[in-house]
Amino acid sequence: MASPQATETEIQTRVADLMSWMTVEEKAGQLTQYFTFPGVTEELENVETEVRAGRAGSLLFVSDAAEIDRLQHIAVEESRLGIPLLFAYDVIHGFRTAMPVPLALAASWDPSLAEDCQAIAAKEARSIGLHWAFAPMVDIARDPRWGRMIEGAGEDPFLGSAMAAAQVRGFQGDRIGAPDRVIAGPKHFAGYGASLGGRDYDEVDLSDSELWNIHFPPFKAAIEAGAGNIMSAYMGLNGVPASGNKWLLTDVLRAEWGFDGFVVTDAGAAADLETHHFAMDRPDAAVRALNAGVDMEMAPPFGGDAAFRSLPDALASGRITMDRLDEAVARVLTMKFRMGLFDAPFVDVAASERTLATAAHGDVALRAAERSAVLLRNEGGLLPLSRDIGSIAVIGPFADAARDTSGPWIFRQDDSETVTVLAGIRAAVGNGTRVDHSVGVSVPKRLHPSIFENPFLPPTPVIEVDDDAEIARSVALAQEAEVAVLVLGEAEVMIGEHASRSTLDLPGRQQELLDAVLATGTPTVLLVMTGRPLDFKGAQPTAQMMIWYPGTRGGEATANLLFGDAVPGGKLPYNWPRNIGQIPLPYAHLRSFKPEETEMRYWNEPNGPLYPFGFGLSYSSFDYANLRLSSDCIAVGQSVEVSVDVTNTGVRAAEEVVQLYIHQRYGTAARPVRELKGFNRIALAPGETRSVTFPLTPDRLRYWSSATRGWVQEPTTFDIFVGGSSQGGLATVLKVDALA
Ligand code: GLC
Repeated sequence: MASPQATETEIQTRVADLMSWMTVEEKAGQLTQYFTFPGVTEELENVETEVRAGRAGSLLFVSDAAEIDRLQHIAVEESRLGIPLLFAYDVIHGFRTAMPVPLALAASWDPSLAEDCQAIAAKEARSIGLHWAFAPMVDIARDPRWGRMIEGAGEDPFLGSAMAAAQVRGFQGDRIGAPDRVIAGPKHFAGYGASLGGRDYDEVDLSDSELWNIHFPPFKAAIEAGAGNIMSAYMGLNGVPASGNKWLLTDVLRAEWGFDGFVVTDAGAAADLETHHFAMDRPDAAVRALNAGVDMEMAPPFGGDAAFRSLPDALASGRITMDRLDEAVARVLTMKFRMGLFDAPFVDVAASERTLATAAHGDVALRAAERSAVLLRNEGGLLPLSRDIGSIAVIGPFADAARDTSGPWIFRQDDSETVTVLAGIRAAVGNGTRVDHSVGVSVPKRLHPSIFENPFLPPTPVIEVDDDAEIARSVALAQEAEVAVLVLGEAEVMIGEHASRSTLDLPGRQQELLDAVLATGTPTVLLVMTGRPLDFKGAQPTAQMMIWYPGTRGGEATANLLFGDAVPGGKLPYNWPRNIGQIPLPYAHLRSFKPEETEMRYWNEPNGPLYPFGFGLSYSSFDYANLRLSSDCIAVGQSVEVSVDVTNTGVRAAEEVVQLYIHQRYGTAARPVRELKGFNRIALAPGETRSVTFPLTPDRLRYWSSATRGWVQEPTTFDIFVGGSSQGGLATVLKVDALA
């Protein structure tokens, strides 16, 4: 039997040998993944039948060590060939220890931090018997109405690529098969973040230029980092559903990028080729998906018939070939051998309990939450607060909301282990500080339930109060306090999948609460708990900080930031529009016609973001000087180094994200006014100056040109910008000549 350290040759020999014993039905079974939700018994009985019959290759959403072990014993000991199952789960930002949501990790601009977080997520997940995470989500998103923006790294392909690769390394380590790692499954290939109107699941229409320059790069980076799996998306891409799109799943993924892992569809997305009115019926859907390049079907949840069950008939009728069927099966079996499942398929249940939610894991979650926060306002240097402050009023529906503090897409955390903002503040101050709390307002119900509000998950806590009375009480508390801390935003069920919104307003009567507290004149800190830019209607709190959904130790991290034990250093991973009417509002936009009127694109209000991509304040300040190039003229194909001196001009140690942007002045296509092509988060002591150098290599200067319909790096002149945001900074010019 092949071992986890088996060579690829040994694995391929074992795969071929095993396949020679398999029936066509068993081969189709390896390509089928079923949902199993705890407590949904009739589905579980059906799944067990399929497993015993050798008609299941993988299960998802089982997240209990003993249950995984029980099902694996059925597969190994009761099916004809005893092929172990791959167990998969949405480990997006932690399994039991909730890390900050992925968009928050992107806001840290620290890929190594993201890698650390996902390594812990992988360790906890693997300890209970999971082998595969449906993550990282690497969809580029530029429309904050789309709730799933929270799962990715924001709007920029360069930041998104760095985060994608780092998370793959975190999940998998340096090779697939390590005992405390899992297979990474970047998703959702591709273009899902550009759905019409930000409406989840709605169609996507993207130009080749947008696909190649914006939406593909993070997937390519994830594959180059070794991702073992790719998940194909639900939606229609330029009229061809992603999960039936041969150009996408074969021409790009395999032929262009050389991806050698396996492709799984999103939930039911193979069967749903029929509902797209793309496939004639479900058997046709199965054929179209397999022939497009899908290797495994994630069957429809809640017992929906698996489309791939009809593959034996499709083979008999010649609509699929044995070669294509075998190719898909070999990819799945190869992954199982690489993961060592044939040697060690079962779960050490006792060991898993020792691995989950350790203090060390929590410490990483704490550090991640501290480094993800983005300080947006700090008038008069209100922050950091003194620990000796006399009184603080902590107000808002999310001030003491454990489930929301963990965020969406996490189901096995223990809410009692989560530190809320209120708990963090109470623990941080001394006995001499009075800390009052009011919920402020209710959290309204969604128009329709979240897909995660199901019997198999703990119920979503309800926050329901007498708003009028609570607003009045909150005002009174704010009036009496030295400082008011407001925690406002969106409940975790209001963002993520199936959670798009047609407005960026604060849900419920939170805006009224915000305005009423500000009207007291008490210095106010607004902490924002959400994963998208919201519209606060011009309200101007004294200080404002994005804390995202900061995870298990989020409240502690927030308190450390409020009192200065941690210094905010995060930067926005998206442009923050003034209001929803401006969307889309990418920072990397073209000059287009009359670029001098960019701010005047609307007659009724100024254009431009409220806060730009890459923006974030600190408790210190930084000076940039001496921007220089290793050469101010290079030839196509050559590299240059960009250097700058950064000084901490404040009195506190702090961190700055130094950012490099380029603008190509002319070429076969017009290029954005700025494109991120380098970043480095550095720590500086007060008064310290550090030189930061970025390599500017041909792969960072090339782009996919819709004029030549291919990748080009062309003779041109670049504006080079370096600073602490996508606006401002120092500038210089780089000339690129044609090849000598
Ligand atoms: C969901 C999501 C996908 C997730 C999968 C399994 O519908 O689109 O991101 O990994 O189904 O839960």
